[in-house]
Amino acid sequence: MTTTAILTAAGSGQRLGAELPKALVLIKGQPIVRIAAENLISSEAVDEIIVTVPAGYEAQFETALAGLKPAVMLAIGGETRQDSIMAALTQLSLACDKVLVHDAARPFTPPALIAQVANAISGEVSAVIPALPVTDTIKQVAVRIPALPSSTTLYSAQNDGLVTATLNRETLVAVQTPQGFDRGVLENAYRNASGKGIQGTDDASLVEALGIPVKAIPGDAAAMKITTPTDLKIAELLYGGAR
Ligand code: CTP
Ligand code: MG
Repeated sequence: MTTTAILTAAGSGQRLGAELPKALVLIKGQPIVRIAAENLISSEAVDEIIVTVPAGYEAQFETALAGLKPAVMLAIGGETRQDSIMAALTQLSLACDKVLVHDAARPFTPPALIAQVANAISGEVSAVIPALPVTDTIKQVAVRIPALPSSTTLYSAQNDGLVTATLNRETLVAVQTPQGFDRGVLENAYRNASGKGIQGTDDASLVEALGIPVKAIPGDAAAMKITTPTDLKIAELLYGGAR
């Protein structure tokens, strides 16, 4: 049994607004991508790591990830996260039978959670996601919320922001990474999505599109995603430790 982690780090980090790609930003002197890779290794559930990197930054990522055991492989990322993972999937080793897809943007994901996701993949369960209950009330509105949530103009234009439904919070969860998959199921899901032009916001949704069951297990607050400068500060304060 060989488990490969695809560590996605090929984004630019537009919302973070740093000069470097988000995964190269330092927390207490360590690049975010290295912290994430070290936690994958500490889980003892991962045999190989493929890191998706933005084209042109290969050398910086080699330096950021130098000396890790097992050594990481780099895959040049694409325009979207889904494209990046497609590229990484072509580099899976023959022996690989489980794949964890993990965002470098969640560097402080506890090794125990990573191991729980990997261990939950079995003959019966081919897709596993960590999830937490939502604490906010979630409503549906008539327009798509833009990527930058700071905008208040959304609610001033006519029809914009009109509420169409309030969802039952008891049935909602917020989903994290790593998401774990039987290798063949994940490959089929990505092949199917690419053939049909499906763009998912996570990996499991591509498996759901095949009608294959996805199992949620309890997530962990420490697996929080660093998206904005505020997130970076929170992560540094709560989980950055004494690095
Ligand atoms: N990612 C990737 N390839 C892309 C886009 C994103 O591998 N083309 C990765 C990011 O590096 C990140 C994860 O997917 O670890 C989740 O994406 P997100 O948090 O949105 O990161 P960015 O795309 O870098 O940030 P932004 O959307 O603010 O630009
Ligand atoms: Mg993004």
